Amino acid sequence: MSLDLLSALGEMVSTESDLLDKHACDWSNVNRQRPRAVLRPRTVAEVSSALKLCHAHGIAVVPQGGLTGLAGGATPRAGQVVLSLERLKGIEEIDADSATMTVLAGTPLETAQKAAEGAGLYLALDIGSRGSCQIGGNVATNAGGNHVIRYGMARAQVLGLETVLADGTVLSSLTKVMKNNTGYDLNQLFIGSEGTLGIITRVVLRLYPRPRARRTALIATADYGATVRLLRRLQRELGDVSAFEAMWPDFYRYVTDHPSTGVKPMADTHPFYALSEFQGSEPDRDCTRLEECLARAIEAGDALDALLAQSEREARSFWTIREGAALDLLPYLINFDVSAPTAQLGALADRLKANLTARWPEGLFFVYGHIGDGNIHLSAWAGGAMDDVAHEMDEIVYGEVRRIGGSISAEHGIGTLKRAYLGHSRSAAEIEIMRRIKTALDPRGILNPGKVI
Ligand code: FAD
Ligand code: LAC
Ligand code: ZN
Repeated sequence: MSLDLLSALGEMVSTESDLLDKHACDWSNVNRQRPRAVLRPRTVAEVSSALKLCHAHGIAVVPQGGLTGLAGGATPRAGQVVLSLERLKGIEEIDADSATMTVLAGTPLETAQKAAEGAGLYLALDIGSRGSCQIGGNVATNAGGNHVIRYGMARAQVLGLETVLADGTVLSSLTKVMKNNTGYDLNQLFIGSEGTLGIITRVVLRLYPRPRARRTALIATADYGATVRLLRRLQRELGDVSAFEAMWPDFYRYVTDHPSTGVKPMADTHPFYALSEFQGSEPDRDCTRLEECLARAIEAGDALDALLAQSEREARSFWTIREGAALDLLPYLINFDVSAPTAQLGALADRLKANLTARWPEGLFFVYGHIGDGNIHLSAWAGGAMDDVAHEMDEIVYGEVRRIGGSISAEHGIGTLKRAYLGHSRSAAEIEIMRRIKTALDPRGILNPGKVI
């Protein structure tokens, strides 16, 4: 591929060395590869002309958002060109009556959240990487996160979408309504397609009324089973559980012991921990209802101890523990995000930890996650460099997940890192249909080749 061809795209093309380094990898930091060039369009028309040119010359294009992906989906391969959405950003409209916001794809999630809040509304999507990830990346990965239990995944927040296809065609379906039964739902096809079917350029997001009260509780429990009973009690008695996260005890201990976390609000000697959030409308009444419910849970043995955050700041510090940034400081960490019915996750976690510890006795295997959504994360460190062990670890983890009919990716996507295991969670017929869709939309295979399928 000649750079001369790309020079027709003018100022949006860069081959500056620092920029190539910056765009060499997503957050997983596996298989770093400097791209041939970085394209940074400022308008949808520029995205379209870039793809038109790349399509005509068979140049492979890797879409990139905020590079917080954990599946290698945004990582280029040798000779490929990166198309970064970082300049295509901004809130175009907040329509309070329709409860929607229209944003350009490169808008950071946190910017969109704050803009919604400023208008007295609420964007329900929230994930730990909110400051860096982009709305386009969230949609392309169908991100999950902290509020799925009440509001659903990114898919459920998207009403309208504008996408640029491989040949440069702009496919615009920027509807603001939930109800649109006019044939196939094309927007849903692009959500979770990880940059392989089109480049998302604009998104109409669904907004909710801003919750008037938010209460966060850190709760100790006796074991996984008690934690699930606690979750169901909270949902039954309070209704508005907007987050419910589980932390296995070694995760809680490691993160709260780590100097980078800086808080340990509850002793680390309990057998299990949960973090739950409730959104309501009357702060005092909601607080009392929650306290009474937690007291009943303790009496019934569904909880051992509970701490109610007394301020937004304290609530954030509870979340800091759950977000577990201290784990990211371990070198060669491998992150898994698997799903199975909530009832099976406790046993799955036990088996995974036992099998991995038997194989790597010096390793650290932390389990935590969104158990109300049937999703746990495993952050694994084998005690040394990962390159030699990653494949073996994948075999152990995905083998167990396949055995119980679970999913090898609950929220981070397939990218390259899970591509070899797609067949563990999808049938041959399903994968064949995915291939046909890919070929129909991207016949020359220029969009993120080698990802997902
Ligand atoms: P990138 O990493 O840049 O790209 C991800 C994929 O989307 C790639 O395949 C890329 O090609 C494609 N892509 C990006 N933008 C576009 C576009 N505009 N059009 C088409 N394709 C595009 N994920 C969760 O689901 N839940 C969590 O709770 C969660 N927590 C996280 C916490 C931390 C600290 C970190 C580092 C990551 C976390 N993630 C989580 C993973 C990650 O943040 C999400 O996958 C996020 O949605 C990726 O967005 P991004 O903009 O960074 O995309
Ligand atoms: C989380 C990311 C890893 O839930 O998905 O923290
Ligand atoms: Zn997660």
